[in-house]
Amino acid sequence: MAEPLTKERVIEALKRVKGPDLKDDIVSQGLVSEIVINRGKVYFSISVDPTRASELEALRQAAEKVVSSVPGVDAVAVTLTADRAPGAARGGNGNGRGAEAPQGSPFTRPGAARDARHRPGGVPGVANIIAVASGKGGVGKSTTAVNLALALKERGLRIGLLDADIYGPSMPRLLGLKGQPQQIAGNKLEPMQAYGLKVMSMGFLVDEETPMIWRGPMVMSALSQMLKDVAWGELDVLVVDLPPGTGDAQLTMAQQVPLAGAVIVSTPQDLALIDARKGLNMFRKVNVPVLGIVENMSTFICPHCGERSDIFGHGGAKSEAARLGVPFLGEVPLTLAIRETSDEGRPVVATDPTSKVAEAYREIAGRALAELERGKGGARAAPRIVMES
Ligand SMILES: Nc1ncnc2c1ncn2[C@@H]1O[C@H](COP(=O)(O)OP(=O)(O)OP(=O)(O)O)[C@@H](O)[C@H]1O
Ligand SMILES: [Mg+2]
Repeated sequence: MAEPLTKERVIEALKRVKGPDLKDDIVSQGLVSEIVINRGKVYFSISVDPTRASELEALRQAAEKVVSSVPGVDAVAVTLTADRAPGAARGGNGNGRGAEAPQGSPFTRPGAARDARHRPGGVPGVANIIAVASGKGGVGKSTTAVNLALALKERGLRIGLLDADIYGPSMPRLLGLKGQPQQIAGNKLEPMQAYGLKVMSMGFLVDEETPMIWRGPMVMSALSQMLKDVAWGELDVLVVDLPPGTGDAQLTMAQQVPLAGAVIVSTPQDLALIDARKGLNMFRKVNVPVLGIVENMSTFICPHCGERSDIFGHGGAKSEAARLGVPFLGEVPLTLAIRETSDEGRPVVATDPTSKVAEAYREIAGRALAELERGKGGARAAPRIVMES
């Protein structure tokens, strides 16, 4: 019988890695964050001086390597962070680089829970967390996330929607939601409700007019709290709308949250597809199953004559998905109705359920769900990625 994979074993392995000063190991220097283990996947971060992050890539790789060799480990994701690891010495009043929430954030309210960063594991009561991601911005990720969530809800599932785009939250606008979530017992926030979805967004908490500067550790802290300090209750699926790209927030999600799968949104253009591949590779690296690719803004359907034209080309995502060995979940046409309903806060699946586009989202939801279930059965092999971008 193989020994079970435990944090202690991971820590033992990490004691073989020397810290940046090359004297003591990274564990005894208190540089290793909380270690999260989820079904053979190991996630943690190493605190480093941000000005030296690039030269310390070798350190990150060394840590990844020693943990990979621990029996029972299937995948390892290590990030370097400017954050102070728990247990590391606190320097005076802090160095101004800690994982504090930004000024004016609800998380700086007295009494608000502040210990959520690095807290591992899932969200109690939430059965599946699905991320909606894209390599580049403006491809319709948030629109897809909302309508996917609504189509899943139509199937009788209990659905939450988390807007993880803290730089440019969209959910208040897409769902026509105003006001602030209420604080309830246990320092939790009650999610907002729209069209039968439970919704949380940084947009409810900060003034849209106030520019906010987020640093990496703050992003981690805010996201972690939006997941764990919100009273989501019992959910079958929590759909998370990620910010575009493959930066801090995406990695944080992948590392701190046991994602059941990721949906990648792409437009048919080649460029977006290259970016979509980046997204795919990121999830693949942290062993999160990619449920499939959605081609958005596929065909333009003229609102007057109903004529179809392929403005951005058509079918690129479908053939690319086949090439990459990931499922193709479906295509959503470019329609004025989608843009208008989104901008008016009246998402099309809820407000025009018999329309063709609502049907397209329903098909996508059905396929994503099927992939999710298939992944749970463990039947699906990891996606085959044939090209690094
Ligand atoms: N299929 C579509 N047809 C027409 N307009 C669309 C479609 N999908 C999205 N849009 C519009 O495109 C714009 C960008 O969409 P959205 O905000 O969902 O993109 P995003 O990828 O989330 O962007 P960001 O990267 O800024 O978060 C919005 O105005 C939205 O209404
Ligand atoms: Mg968005």
